[in-house]
Amino acid sequence: MKFSLFTKRLKMSSKTANLDLYAKVEHLLGIEEATDALHSLYMSELDDLEVKSLLDVGCGRGGFLKRVNAKGIRAKGCDPSEVMAKSSQDEGLDVVHGGIEAVEGKFDAIVSIFDVLNFMDKEQLEVFFHEVAKRLNDGGVFIADINTRFGFSEVAEGVMSSEDESGFLNVDAEFVNDELHTVFTFFEKENDGKYSKYQEKILQYFHPLQRFLKNDALKVVEKQTFSLYDTNDKVLLIMKKR
Ligand SMILES: C[S@@+](CC[C@H](N)C(=O)[O-])C[C@H]1O[C@@H](n2cnc3c(N)ncnc32)[C@H](O)[C@@H]1O
Repeated sequence: MKFSLFTKRLKMSSKTANLDLYAKVEHLLGIEEATDALHSLYMSELDDLEVKSLLDVGCGRGGFLKRVNAKGIRAKGCDPSEVMAKSSQDEGLDVVHGGIEAVEGKFDAIVSIFDVLNFMDKEQLEVFFHEVAKRLNDGGVFIADINTRFGFSEVAEGVMSSEDESGFLNVDAEFVNDELHTVFTFFEKENDGKYSKYQEKILQYFHPLQRFLKNDALKVVEKQTFSLYDTNDKVLLIMKKR
């Protein structure tokens, strides 16, 4: 392999460069099947409710928004990764670049699918609950999934690598003190046959259930532990405004 001589960082705001690198390499993670299964689970929850408007926070490439739109539900999304938000916008989806604070309006349902809450630390999560409550219509629901401690320590932790014509990816994840430290190293193949190296770290936080049961903005109305990759690696939470 021929490497270029310097390590390039993505030309994005440094605050979300890690999320943008995640967006760039997501196709190499082999998570399509799990994503699809998760989207079906959320859809089956929504099918039981009278939802006319929905906000998908951390919508990524907008796969779930497309499914929701197809049901005739007015759906909006947001994502702090510029790469993710742009990719959804390019698909014609109603998506803003930013976190939930960037979204105006109120919704019958708000969802945060596939670890989105684990990207927030304890303090950010507290603020987030209030931002969700502000944007829920009366009787509206917030649905989100979180990783169990087992999901972090036994499923997410470890090393993997993967490659395709876009380049070579190495992912090294370590779960320490209830935090998952994941280093993504991507060697992107350039047109001239050289490789550019991108490296970013993503931190994810384990949240105990008490954090959800005890917050003063939302109340948990249902929780179910389920298995996505392994037995009981995730919990689905359904919450309403207090
Ligand atoms: C594993 S991806 C899931 C994407 C999408 N929900 C799906 O089901 O395919 C996690 C997403 O959360 C977004 N994210 C990270 N931190 C966030 C935050 N504080 N608020 C909203 N979204 C966030 C990331 O940019 C990424 O798109």
